[in-house]
Amino acid sequence: MAALGPVDPSSFSEPERCVVTKLHVDLEIDFAKHVLVGSVDITLEKKSEDVKTVILDTRDLTISRIVDRATISVLPFTLGEPTGPFGSKLEITLPTSSDKQVTISIEYSTSETSTALQWLRPEQTAGKRQPYLFSQCQAIHARSLVPCQDTPYVKFPYTAKVTAPEEVTVLMSALRKDPVRHPNKRTTTHEFEQKIPIPSYLIAIVAGDIESRDIGPRSKVWSEKELVDMAAYEFAETEQMLQTAEAMLGPYVWGHYDLLVLPPSFPYGGMENPCLTFVTPTLLAKDRSLANVVAHEISHSWTGNLVTNNSCEHFWLNEGHTVFVERKIASRLHGGEQMRHFMASEGWDALQNAVNTLENPLYTKLIPDLKGVDPDDAFSIVPYEKGFALLFYLETLVGGPDVFEKFLKAYIDTFKYKSINSKTWKNFLFLHFSDTETQKVLNDVDWDAWFFGVGMPPVKPDYDTSLRDPCTNMCNMWVEASEADMSQFGKHDLHDFSSIQEREFINLLIQKPPLPVFKLEKMNELYQFGVVINSEIRFRWIRLGIRAQWPKIIPLALAFVSEQGRMKFVRPIYTDLYKWEAARQKAIDNYMEHKDEMHNTTASLVAKDLKLM
Ligand code: BES
Ligand code: ZN
Repeated sequence: MAALGPVDPSSFSEPERCVVTKLHVDLEIDFAKHVLVGSVDITLEKKSEDVKTVILDTRDLTISRIVDRATISVLPFTLGEPTGPFGSKLEITLPTSSDKQVTISIEYSTSETSTALQWLRPEQTAGKRQPYLFSQCQAIHARSLVPCQDTPYVKFPYTAKVTAPEEVTVLMSALRKDPVRHPNKRTTTHEFEQKIPIPSYLIAIVAGDIESRDIGPRSKVWSEKELVDMAAYEFAETEQMLQTAEAMLGPYVWGHYDLLVLPPSFPYGGMENPCLTFVTPTLLAKDRSLANVVAHEISHSWTGNLVTNNSCEHFWLNEGHTVFVERKIASRLHGGEQMRHFMASEGWDALQNAVNTLENPLYTKLIPDLKGVDPDDAFSIVPYEKGFALLFYLETLVGGPDVFEKFLKAYIDTFKYKSINSKTWKNFLFLHFSDTETQKVLNDVDWDAWFFGVGMPPVKPDYDTSLRDPCTNMCNMWVEASEADMSQFGKHDLHDFSSIQEREFINLLIQKPPLPVFKLEKMNELYQFGVVINSEIRFRWIRLGIRAQWPKIIPLALAFVSEQGRMKFVRPIYTDLYKWEAARQKAIDNYMEHKDEMHNTTASLVAKDLKLM
């Protein structure tokens, strides 16, 4: 399949002819019909006199009328045939005027099948009082929420008015203005403004029975009231993380940094929606041990949201840099350089695992070819961990952490408010390190292998192993012990382990040949992995059990994939269960029973994992 458009393989738009410069949405939420109804005003800039039309991306939208905002004259349009994940091309004839700028108004509604939106009935929420709506636009779902140039090549500020039943609070990825109440209609209109230009994938909305607690001078945490105090405890380090990031990369420009804890079906760990990061409730471990996801989303306030990849093919620019900054922040708060190296080596192993198991080896390229490919299908940890490994390796080449941090700051300063590709990044790297010595070192890097090679990177960086060694030792003890040796293990074996070390201990066991079931029984009795709250530990414990074909793990595995919908957990477990013949049918039955309650992206990807599609 050819690229859809000239600047981004996943978008029909042609921003070099005519580009969106501003967007204003005015929508009403219809919880009964599961649709948003209203209009969007789009301000456009024509790049030359002969531009007669503009092309937008849409998916499953009903367009009722398009007018020139200035004259209210009706504008003709054609809506193309749907093309799967990419949706339908919308071509609009622009008013015949000599103005470079034009604002058009599109009256439209979303459909019940909008892939950006999940609608929950009251019974599906924690409080069971009100319905709930949330969006997830990255990678290319914004087009099913609003007609737009759905490519990160284009950035624009937005404003919004959203009307909802008065019992429901609405938030967006923007700063809030005072809501306007309509008592006789029992509705409220919520108003928002995002002044900073953003790519379409950062548009976000949530509506539900949610409340907030202050967790810092510029931060609140939002969730249903059942979880809000727990969330405030879990994410209490937010301000400290923001300050650590600011010291490294410059001021936080987005005003507020709030967090929203979503219902369990939220498909990701976190999503960096500006002013309002979305996170999964599976981060609520009661000991702040999973707050690195918040450090990650905070980092995107610079790497991703200020400097943005210009298409999904360069997604590693967003995620590789963000993981790099995340690990800087996390280790500065706890554990220092040893901890950073520990997290880095865990990442390398995760990359190795992805390289071993990904069905399509072409998706192991740092810069994949995404023509005709649904970015959700290509998604994996490769851009995160191969991208991180490249930066971690470069750090050693150019003179160490301090020198490399200065490069990162200069990178942000140079490209903030812009969208770029890997070539621009690489040119800037060479420009920044301009002394002959460093130039020589950088020229010796096998760039072609790093950027376009499949499989593992050409070089493995060195990692300090002081925090990993205890995990390796404990793992080897368990692997080598015989049934008669079980008494050497005790309840307190892991007492000096941090949560991330416990997790690594299980990781290392997963990489070994399957354990005999008596070892799992003993481990379960001593360490209680089956009932831990920490979702990352529970996830790995379940995978270890499935690997050993331990029948007792099946009900735990099925419960885990049904009670939460984070794809990072749900997809590998379903895939593991599918490969185990004794569990396969149970996995399929469980999926069939729950699929209507699942987020549609998760449901369709799991269907592929279970070979049902
Ligand atoms: N932006 C991503 C989530 C995303 C990526 C959604 C692509 C849709 C398409 C977010 O910042 C992210 O990377 N989340 C990770 C956090 C982890 C790496 C700490 C996640 O969800 O697990
Ligand atoms: Zn990210």
